[in-house]
Amino acid sequence: MAFVRATGRNDVATGTIQEFQVGEKNIALANVAGKFFAINNVCLHQGGPLGEGDLDRQVVTCPWHGWQYDVTNGQLLSNSAVTTTCYSVEIRGDDVFVDVG
Ligand code: FES
Repeated sequence: MAFVRATGRNDVATGTIQEFQVGEKNIALANVAGKFFAINNVCLHQGGPLGEGDLDRQVVTCPWHGWQYDVTNGQLLSNSAVTTTCYSVEIRGDDVFVDVG
C-alpha cells in the first residue's frame, strides 16, 4: 500500500469529480455527499477522461460517449460484469490520499 496525496479535501466540491495524476496513476476523484471515491480516470470504452464527466450522485458519465460508472465500486452500469479499477481513499487532515499501490 502506498497512499499518495492527491489534493486538498476542499478542492473537490461535493457533487463533483476531477482528474488527478497520483504517482503513476491517472485517477478520477469524486466527492459524493462529502465522501471521496477514486477510480481509474481512463474510460474502458475508448479512453475518455472520466474526471471530466458529469457526476450525478454516485454515477459518473463519460464525456465522450456516455458510458456510466458507479464511482463507489467501479461498476459499469450497462454491464455489471465489467468494473474499472477502484483505489482506496483516506482523508488525512485537510488532504485526500489515494492508495496507488
Ligand atoms: S470513451 Fe468513454 S464512453 Fe467512449
